[in-house]
Amino acid sequence: MILFTGYTIPRHETDNMTMKETQHKHLWWQEGIIYQIYPRSFQDSDNDGIGDLPGIIQRLDYLQSLGITAIWLSPIFPSPMADFGYDISDYCGIHPLFGSMEDFDELLREVHERGMKLILDLVPNHTSSEHPWFLESKSSRTSPKRDWYIWKDAQPDGSAPNNWLAMFGGSAWEWDEETQQYYYHAFLKEQPDLNWRNPEVQEAMLNVMRFWLDKGVDGFRVDVMWHMIKDSQFRDNPVNPNYREHQATYERLIPAYSTDQPEVHDIVRSMRQVLDAYDERMMIGEIYLPIDKLMTYYGTDSKEAHLPFNFLLLSIDWDAGKLASEINQYEGALPAGGWPNWVLGNHDQPRITSRVGQSQARVAAMLLLTLRGTPTIYYGDEIGMRDVPIPPDEVQDPQGLNMPGLNLSRDPQRTPMQWNAGENAGFSTERPWLRLPDFYKRQNVEAQQEDEFGMLTLYSKLIRLRQQEPALHVGEYKPVVTKSPLLGYLRVSGDTRFLVLLNLSHKPCYFTPDHFTFEGTIALNTIPEREGTSVKDQVYLSGDEGMVIRLKNS
Ligand code: GLC
Ligand code: MG
Repeated sequence: MILFTGYTIPRHETDNMTMKETQHKHLWWQEGIIYQIYPRSFQDSDNDGIGDLPGIIQRLDYLQSLGITAIWLSPIFPSPMADFGYDISDYCGIHPLFGSMEDFDELLREVHERGMKLILDLVPNHTSSEHPWFLESKSSRTSPKRDWYIWKDAQPDGSAPNNWLAMFGGSAWEWDEETQQYYYHAFLKEQPDLNWRNPEVQEAMLNVMRFWLDKGVDGFRVDVMWHMIKDSQFRDNPVNPNYREHQATYERLIPAYSTDQPEVHDIVRSMRQVLDAYDERMMIGEIYLPIDKLMTYYGTDSKEAHLPFNFLLLSIDWDAGKLASEINQYEGALPAGGWPNWVLGNHDQPRITSRVGQSQARVAAMLLLTLRGTPTIYYGDEIGMRDVPIPPDEVQDPQGLNMPGLNLSRDPQRTPMQWNAGENAGFSTERPWLRLPDFYKRQNVEAQQEDEFGMLTLYSKLIRLRQQEPALHVGEYKPVVTKSPLLGYLRVSGDTRFLVLLNLSHKPCYFTPDHFTFEGTIALNTIPEREGTSVKDQVYLSGDEGMVIRLKNS
C-alpha cells in the first residue's frame, strides 16, 4: 500500500501519462546510453602504443554486451596533435595514427550491425594552425580566406586588440610578423578561431557535417559550442572579482564578450537544420554554462542542440542537499520538449573515482544511470579507473604544460583502458603513450567480469535494469524529500514506480519518510547481497549504500 501525499501523482493523471507515453515514440538518443571513447587510449591494434580504429572494432562486442547503445569518439581526424586531435588540419579525413577511411567505414558498419550508433566529435570553433584554410588566410592580408579567421590590428602601442585571454594560458591574441596583425585563438595559438560571421566559413563547416552524415554517422558532439561567435565590437572582458591566485589565468576575466553571444544561436540552428534534413541524427553541445544559460541552447522552439551537455555532476560538491537542489533546478528549467542528459566524466575532467572515492563512485554510477535523461559514460569509469599520476617529465597535455604548478594536466584521466592483467593491460604490446597505474593488474575488465562485487558488474546491472524499464529510461522524475546525507527520487511510468535512495556519505542512515508509507523490493543495490530484500516504510542504509527499490502497487 503506497500512500503518497504532497507530490502524489493522482491516478487519472498517471493514466493520461501512460497514454501519452505509448503514443510518443522516444528516439535512440533519448532512450539510450552514450559511451565516450578517447581513441588514443582505448585499444591499440598496430602496436605503436596509441589506440586506433581497428582497436575500437575489436572491443565493440564488449561495449555491446555492456548494453551501450551509442559511442561518441573524440577526434580521429588529421591533426598535428598540439591539443591531441582538437586541432584539426583536415575535417574529412582520418589521422593515419588511428587508421584509414576504410577502417572508419568498417567501424561504422560494425557499430551499426550491432544496433549501436556512432557520434563524432565536430570541432567547428577553431582549426589547426596547419589547416590549409589558415595557411591561406595567413599568407597575406588580401588572401580570399583572410576573413575566415579573426585578424585584428594591434593597438597604437603595439599591444593586443583587447584583453581577452586564452583558456590554455596567456593572451588569446597571437602576433603574425609577416602580415603585421594579431589573430584570435580561444585555446592554443596552434588553434586559431574561425570567423563564424563569415557565410563561407558557415557553409564550409555545414558541408563537413554533410560529408559525415552522408556516410551514415548518427550525430555530433560539438566542441566548445558556446565559444563559436564573439562580440562584434570585440569589447574588453570585465575583470572577475572572485579570481583567486591558484586559478588558471583565464579565470581573471569574465568571458562576457568572448563567449555565449546571442548570435551563436543562429549558428546552432543552422547546424540543426543540416541534421534535420536526415533521419534521426542528433547533436550534443559541449557547453560549460550555468543552468539558465545552458537551457537556451535547446533553442526557443527546441530547434537547436538535442542535448546541450549537462555537466552539473562534474563540478558539484558531493553533498546530498546541493545535488538535490541542482537536479531539481535542472529538471525545472528544461524547456518544453527539452530532453535531459547527465555526464559524470570526460577527457577534460578528473575521474569520478578520484573525486569522490571508490565507494562513492558506485553511488555516483547509480545516480548517473537512474536519473531522467540520457547518460554519458566516460570509458574506464565502468571499471572504476582512477586518475593516474603522471610524473612531470611525462606530462603531455598542453593545458598542463602551459600552466605548470596548477595541477591542470588532463593526462591522468586519459590513460589507456585497463583490459586485463597482462602486459600493458592488454592495451598494446608496446609502451603506451601514457603510463598505466600499477594497480591495473587487479583493476581491469577481465578481473571484474568475474567479480560479483566489482564496479563493472554494478554498471552492467544498472544498464540492464535501466534499459529494461521504461520507468528508468523514459519515465517521469519526482523528487523525494530526504535529509542529508540521503538523496532520493522516484522514477515513474504508468503503474511502475522505482524509488532510488542514495547515501552520499560513509556513515549509515535511515530513510523514514514523514509523509508517506511505502512497500517494495530492492531491485538493485551497491551491496549486491541486499538485492531481492523486501522493504517497508523505513529503510536502513549503510555508509556508501545506494538502492533502487521497485515499489509495490496498491
Ligand atoms: C574542448 C575539448 C578539449 C579541448 C578544447 C579545445 O573543451 O573537450 O579537450 O582541449 O575543447 O578544443
Ligand atoms: Mg595504434
